[in-house]
Amino acid sequence: MRRTSLWLAALTAVTALTATACGGGSAAGGHKTDKVEVFSWWTSGSEAAALNALIDNFKKANPGVTVRNAAVSGGGGSNAQQVLQTRLVGGNPPDTWQTHPGKAMGEVLDNGLALDLTDVYTANKWNSSMPKPLIDAMSRNGKVYGVLTGVHRGNVLWFNKKVLAGAGISVGDHLSRQEFDWALAKLRAKGRTPLCLGDKDIFASAEVLENVLVGRLGATGWERLVGGRTHWSDPEVRAAVKEYTGLLGRVNSDHSALTWDQAVKRMADGGCGFNTMGDWAYGELIKNGQHDGEDFGYVPFPGSEDVFVTVGDVFVASASSGNPDLVKRWIASVGSKESQLAFNKAKGSTPVRTDVDVSSLGAYQQAAAQDFRHKTLVSTLVHGEATSPGLQQAFFDAVNQLNSNNDIDAFVKALDGAAQK
Ligand code: GAL
Repeated sequence: MRRTSLWLAALTAVTALTATACGGGSAAGGHKTDKVEVFSWWTSGSEAAALNALIDNFKKANPGVTVRNAAVSGGGGSNAQQVLQTRLVGGNPPDTWQTHPGKAMGEVLDNGLALDLTDVYTANKWNSSMPKPLIDAMSRNGKVYGVLTGVHRGNVLWFNKKVLAGAGISVGDHLSRQEFDWALAKLRAKGRTPLCLGDKDIFASAEVLENVLVGRLGATGWERLVGGRTHWSDPEVRAAVKEYTGLLGRVNSDHSALTWDQAVKRMADGGCGFNTMGDWAYGELIKNGQHDGEDFGYVPFPGSEDVFVTVGDVFVASASSGNPDLVKRWIASVGSKESQLAFNKAKGSTPVRTDVDVSSLGAYQQAAAQDFRHKTLVSTLVHGEATSPGLQQAFFDAVNQLNSNNDIDAFVKALDGAAQK
């Protein structure tokens, strides 16, 4: 799915702000309604459960309100982004929608489509309970335009303990690149599929490559690459891309028919040894009845032990919502301690509030909450935080090509070309 430019939206935003709004929060004639339309791509078992926790908390605190759950399926949000763009350009925005911090919010802010939420931050004293760099990543000219539901770690390698034990593989608190390679080879020698992949939505294989790149380049090298200071034709980058194509040779042959969550389930069911995916996979494993540390284990993706690739999930509110007070109450509810805890418990992510007691979360999540505070944080390209939507799309397109032709020259050339735009 392609992302289109939002240039038209500048016009429609102004029009929508002055004319009768047609978002979910208003009725014809501009009367306020008690309805909030919530747009996201959270439709897998764990994603839907986490979203429902937010909706339930909001409804509990605001009896009588109606929430329209307008989720559009498709992991990583490529389908949802497409629908959202059409709605924004058409002047028909949802009252509130899911996005990511950083560059992913750029066009929406450039075009004045998001509601200023600074007063919600002030009223709830969030400036002292949420990390400043994350607030800054959702801000423009001193005003804040989003609230984080939580932060996922993108660079995690999950494994099925039984399958690994059966192949004589034991894993400690990390796995070097060399050890990972040996483990994959052992699994293959035993006739097992080494790595589960479900890239029906291309973000999933893009995520594998992102993790390989971060593992090989480290935090500094990764930031130089996504910041345009290292060329994609750089020998280390090329070596990482080659490593990725090697991994592709070790995945299930039906990978392009599976979604990311089906691949997680395949691993849990013993269909392979490993899966690499952001820690929304944790939510899915738990939702499927798997036990942390018994059925499955996890390490940072090999080589990226010191790095925490952040994938933040944000709700913004529409500047043209017919009921800005109500939508601000939604934002306040998303950032409340209760919602942060309930949401993240189901989702696998880490609450962003530093004053949330995480002791009731799973063992993985408690460790991730620590890592989030102590590791080097870098932004994801795959989920649009580190680069422009244009480069993100170029990455997806190039990964798609690479998956079918293994042509590393063409891959680096395409990315170098896109990075120069
Ligand atoms: C990411 C999002 C996660 C998870 C994942 C798979 O973009 O941050 O919350 O839902 O997509 O759909």
